Amino acid sequence: MTSTAKRVPIPKNGVDYRGRIVLAPMVRSGECPSRLLALEYGADLVWGPETIDKALIGTARHINPVTNTVDFTRLSSNGAKNPAINPDQRESIIYRLHPEKEGKKLIYQIGTSNPETAVQAAKLIAPDVAGIDVNAGCPKPFSTSGGMGAALLKKPDLLCSILRALVKEVGEPNEIGISVKVRILDTAEATEALVRQLCDTGITGLTVHCRTTPMRPRERAIRDQLRMIADICREAGVACLMNGDVTSRDEALGLITEFGVDGAMIATAAETNPSVFKPKDEGGEAPWHEVVKEYVKTAMEVENRFGNTKYLLGQMIPGKLPAYKSMMTAKSYRDIVKALGHDAELGESASDVDKRLEIGAFEKPKMTKAERKAANKAAAKQAEAAEEKQSEEVQEQPSAAGVKRSAETAGLDMPPDVAREQAPASMPERASVLSV
Ligand SMILES: Cc1cc2nc3c(=O)[nH]c(=O)nc-3n(C[C@H](O)[C@H](O)[C@H](O)COP(=O)(O)O)c2cc1C
Repeated sequence: MTSTAKRVPIPKNGVDYRGRIVLAPMVRSGECPSRLLALEYGADLVWGPETIDKALIGTARHINPVTNTVDFTRLSSNGAKNPAINPDQRESIIYRLHPEKEGKKLIYQIGTSNPETAVQAAKLIAPDVAGIDVNAGCPKPFSTSGGMGAALLKKPDLLCSILRALVKEVGEPNEIGISVKVRILDTAEATEALVRQLCDTGITGLTVHCRTTPMRPRERAIRDQLRMIADICREAGVACLMNGDVTSRDEALGLITEFGVDGAMIATAAETNPSVFKPKDEGGEAPWHEVVKEYVKTAMEVENRFGNTKYLLGQMIPGKLPAYKSMMTAKSYRDIVKALGHDAELGESASDVDKRLEIGAFEKPKMTKAERKAANKAAAKQAEAAEEKQSEEVQEQPSAAGVKRSAETAGLDMPPDVAREQAPASMPERASVLSV
C-alpha cells in the first residue's frame, strides 16, 4: 500500500496526534493532577477519564479562583438540596480541568450511545478542550449495558452516526478535532471494515487498543493487525495512535517506527509512574519517591479530592514500603506529607488545603441522621415555598427552580463516573479497579 500525503485537516483549535506520545484516558487514575504531572514529565497530550454524556449534561461551569481550574459541577444527591440549610451539601465536581496548564493539550473522552446526548454534552466542554474522543473500547458492564464503550463496536453504524454528529455539530463550530478509541476485533477483516467506516466520518484521529473486547489487561497486546490499521488511517488522512503494553516514551518511539503508526498512548505504566514520558536522554524514568512528591504537590495545587489522591498514591508507592502503610491510614493531606517525610516543606500548604476541603483536623462534625432528616425536611419546605412564590409571580413562565430540580431528579444525580469515583473504601487500594 502506498502512503499518500492526504490528511484530514486539523481544525484551528485542535491538535494533530501525529508524532505524539500521550496519556491514556483512565477513569479514576486520569484526574486533573495525574494529567498535569504527565504533561510536566513530557507527555505531549493527555486524555481525561471517560465521562458519560448524561453526567455532564446539566452541570454548571465554574471558574475556581483558588485552583485556577474550570470545574463542571452539580449538587450531589446526598442530603438536602439547599447548601444554606444543609452545610454538608456540596457541589460534586464532575470534571475539573486546568485551562492554562492543559487546556490546549487535553482531550475530553465521552461515554455515549446516542448522537443527540453526545452532542449536547460535548457542546458544554468543547470550548475548554483541544478535542473530543469517543470511547468505543470499554468492556465493563457499566459501559456496555448502556450501549456505550465496546458495545459500539458491534453497532458500527451507530458509532459512525455519533462521530458524524460530533464532527458537524461540535467539532466544526468549535474548530476542534473529534476522534475515537477502539479495540481490535476478532479478525483482521472485521477490524479493517470497521476502521474504513470510522475513517470516513470526518474524525482527525483514531486510537487502537491492541486487545479484543474479551481480553483482560494482563494478556499481552496483539499487534499483528496494527500495520494494516495504520495503513488504512494514513490512506484516509486520519492520525493513528497505538495503545496496549507501551511502557515508556523511548519504547513508544521504536514501536511507532516498527508498526508505521503516528503516535502511541500509555495507560498503566503512566498510572504507576508518569515520568515514563521523560526521554532517556533527559534522565528517563524518575524514582517513585521523587514522582510521588511532585504528585502530592500537584494534587494540593488543584485541591484534588482526597480519596482520589490517596488512591493514586496507592498505585505509585511500592506496596511493601513503610511509607505505603502510613499513607494508607492518612485522613488528610497533612497526614500524607508527614507519612512521606515532607512535613517541613509542605506541611503548611497541606494544612491550608485540608482547611478548604474540610478534612483531617478541619473535618466538620457530621450531622446525625435525625438532624439530616430535619434539614432535608426544612429544605424541601423552603424550596416548595420558593417555587410557589415564583409561580405566583411568573404565571406563564416555567420556574428556574423547577427546571433545575427536574435536571437533578432525572436520575443523573449520581452519574456512573461519580459512583466509580466514590468507590467504597473496601475497594483494595492497590488494585486497578477498572480495566477498560
Ligand atoms: C484505571 C484504568 C482506567 C481506564 N479508564 C479508561 C477510560 O476511561 N477510557 C478508555 O477508553 N480506556 C480506559 N482504560 C483503558 C486504557 O486507556 C488503555 O486502553 C488500556 O489500559 C491499555 O493500555 P496499557 O496497556 O498501556 O495499560 C483504563 C485503564 C485503566 C488501567
